[in-house]
Amino acid sequence: MPRRKVSVIGAGNVGATATYYIAEKVIADIVMVDVMEGMTQAKALDFLHSGPMRSYDGPISGSNDFATITNSDVVVITAGLPRKPGMDRMDLLKANTAIVKTAAQHIARYAPNATVIVVSNPLDVMCHVVLSTTGFAIRRVIGMAGILDATRFRYFVAEHIGCSLSVVHAMVLGGHGDQMVPIPRFTTVAGIPITELMDQATIERLVDRTRKGGAEIVGLLKTGSAYYAPAAAAAEMVEAILTDRRHMAPCAAYLRGEYGIENLFIGVPVILGKHGIESVVELDLTDDEKQQLLASAAAVKKGVDELHTFFKVN
Ligand code: NAI
Ligand code: 2OP
Repeated sequence: MPRRKVSVIGAGNVGATATYYIAEKVIADIVMVDVMEGMTQAKALDFLHSGPMRSYDGPISGSNDFATITNSDVVVITAGLPRKPGMDRMDLLKANTAIVKTAAQHIARYAPNATVIVVSNPLDVMCHVVLSTTGFAIRRVIGMAGILDATRFRYFVAEHIGCSLSVVHAMVLGGHGDQMVPIPRFTTVAGIPITELMDQATIERLVDRTRKGGAEIVGLLKTGSAYYAPAAAAAEMVEAILTDRRHMAPCAAYLRGEYGIENLFIGVPVILGKHGIESVVELDLTDDEKQQLLASAAAVKKGVDELHTFFKVN
């Protein structure tokens, strides 16, 4: 089997940590690209020095030259500013649009067959920037957010119940913002919906903490945002695509009528495989869940409209 190649654009906290997690999966050669001189080269060497103890060989390389992403199978975009205290995700829109657009132009040029995993915030809006800039097929541009939001929900549930994280599964729909939609009905402990295990007030508290999960970490860190769990989520997506694992998880996908939503990236359950998104899974939602999802979509749409107005990005 030919060797597979993953490129990570932006080798800051999320990008470098994702590189490390991908390396440990031993599924691909990895290239990191960043505008910071010497930084990716240094991190690549450091990762390779860890290889003998962490059971991987590389190659892992770092560069400031986007041509090094040539012929990547998967490209992960983590370039951009992280959220600082007092900023919401939409504050990042202006700063990150230009950065993500440049990255997408390089991907279209050097890795035209790649599947792109977008991580930079505001996530759902940045997916639009990548799709419109690359012109790639819609199922090859995927946003990482739902897996992260769901893993936070999983942790909060496991902590409350006092059980292993491994038996908790969660579903979080919607945009990666304050209006994301955790779905308690589809959140289970060993197959049992949490609606059978907790009272409504507890569920609401855990849902609220999930919605604010990113902000909680920003508030504590003060110098940036979360990166271990985001990187693990991106690495899980890379693995599912490269190994054609058909992993089902919530990701930002471009919808064309599914869930009654047209022409918008938003978090929904998808099956990830060698073509990127193999299919979007449509759940039968209650009226209340549907309303919440549509409200979240409206918030994402507002950001996309700002893109059109200020940046002339379609
Ligand atoms: P960071 O500041 O540690 O790293 C960002 C890196 O991007 C820096 O190394 C910077 O030099 C690089 N960069 C800037 N402009 C670039 C360009 N034009 N080309 C290549 N590299 C460039 O930030 P961190 O914590 O890694 O976060 C990265 C992005 O991911 C942020 O936008 C953050 O908000 C987002 N994020 C998204 C999450 C999600 O759930 N979707 C979760 C966590 C972070
Ligand atoms: C997070 O949810 C900031 O989007 C980032 O941690």
